[in-house]
Amino acid sequence: MIIFGGVGDLSARKLLPALYMAHLHGNLPPHTRIIAIGRRDWTRDEYLAFMQKQSRPFVDSKAMDVQAWESFLAAFDYVNLDVSKAEDYVRLASSTRPGVQRVFYLATAPNLFASICDSLSAAGLVDQQSRVVLEKPLGHDLASAQAINTAVSQHFAENQIYRIDHYLGKETVQNLMVLRFGNAIFGPLWQAPYIKSVQITVAESVGVGSRAGFYDDTGAMRDMVQNHLLQLLCIVAMEPPVSLDPDAVRDEKLKVLRSLRPMTLTDIGRDTVRGQYKAGAIDGETVKGYLDETNVPQDSGTETFVALRAQINNWRWANVPFFLRTGKRLQKRQSEIVIEFSDLPFSIIPSGPRTGANRLIIKLQPEESIQLQMMAKEPGSGMHMQPVTLNLDLQQAFTARRAEAYERLLIDVIRGRLMHFMRRDELEAAWTWVEPILNGWKELGDTPRNYPAGTWGPAAASALVAREGMSWVEET
Ligand code: BG6
Repeated sequence: MIIFGGVGDLSARKLLPALYMAHLHGNLPPHTRIIAIGRRDWTRDEYLAFMQKQSRPFVDSKAMDVQAWESFLAAFDYVNLDVSKAEDYVRLASSTRPGVQRVFYLATAPNLFASICDSLSAAGLVDQQSRVVLEKPLGHDLASAQAINTAVSQHFAENQIYRIDHYLGKETVQNLMVLRFGNAIFGPLWQAPYIKSVQITVAESVGVGSRAGFYDDTGAMRDMVQNHLLQLLCIVAMEPPVSLDPDAVRDEKLKVLRSLRPMTLTDIGRDTVRGQYKAGAIDGETVKGYLDETNVPQDSGTETFVALRAQINNWRWANVPFFLRTGKRLQKRQSEIVIEFSDLPFSIIPSGPRTGANRLIIKLQPEESIQLQMMAKEPGSGMHMQPVTLNLDLQQAFTARRAEAYERLLIDVIRGRLMHFMRRDELEAAWTWVEPILNGWKELGDTPRNYPAGTWGPAAASALVAREGMSWVEET
């Protein structure tokens, strides 16, 4: 495995700890070698010292086995390489053995993907068994995504390309498919008019941290909605695939993306809300506003929050609103999908003040659980109903270790399993829907609304759902 961006933040915090976990559990093939690539003129020992200092703290201390960590380090090499210099790739080629299977992990800025693939190929490093992993964000808009895809496809066939979206590696996200397609009870109900609305929230309490250089140019729409939230929407909304064949699954997700109703300028003005956090408090601690974060321009109009109402134009979902919401510096880290079923056509039972529709709540983070809100009789002499929750505690039901998303996806790459990676047409369909919204904001001169850190975002986001007599599910 050859990791471009081997000295980067993603490698240190996510990839290397995930590879260590795979190694610890015997999921790396024997004789695996990992070559980290970086621009720093380091020796191998200096790289190992970097891993020790920057990566090891991200390994769960309960999983730290000194012997396993040492044998993991033994698999590493470091190659100092300037991605723009052909001769450096020749040097890289000389440090890999011929005939072995190579996985190239491109954890660099996406504008380098094309030239890295060209140079790897020119140095004779790419063959039919090679695989390439492309980190997000894949492009800045549709044209740049297409350009990258075309360039990479000159050297790798589509089934050698793994476009990673780590949300697809999360256990609960994968479980959503089993929930939908492994339980007969949901089948008939999983559509309009039995489902009234779908909410997808990915709320983070962290701010932009040290990533402003990247983030200010990106914003929440490109960073989160274009990929993670739309992928979640696809899994909720797709038709049953004919099998678990990767293309069968991805065909169905593609159909959902293509069915998303394109937004006109009027829709954008009415159905989207952008926000930017101001100073505030989270868990009792004062935190800065976005404009005061290091490296953020004083006049930045980048959104750190997006809420929108999407519509899927097909028979299954006609008139069912999909409310999507994501933001940084929100009240707490909470990611969940809420399927709200329709109201009773008519009720003979008197309701209590909290009575509501049935809801299926799939919590992804911080804890994973699946809850079904049902109505039950309130104890007492009368016939009153109140909501109660059927709670599927997955941690309790399955005691087996749950791998972290990156670990699971890296193992998939090694084993050649493409199901949880985005295909080119899917990625481009997602950009096709998102890009007009980004352009529309510009055209409308839209500026993000302020929200204090530690809240649930701008009030307009509540108004977006309130308009249809609903509210965001926040405390469940
Ligand atoms: C990344 C985004 O893709 O996902 C980050 O670039 C974000 O901005 C992160 O913080 C969230 O991932 P998770 O797994 O912590 O929800």
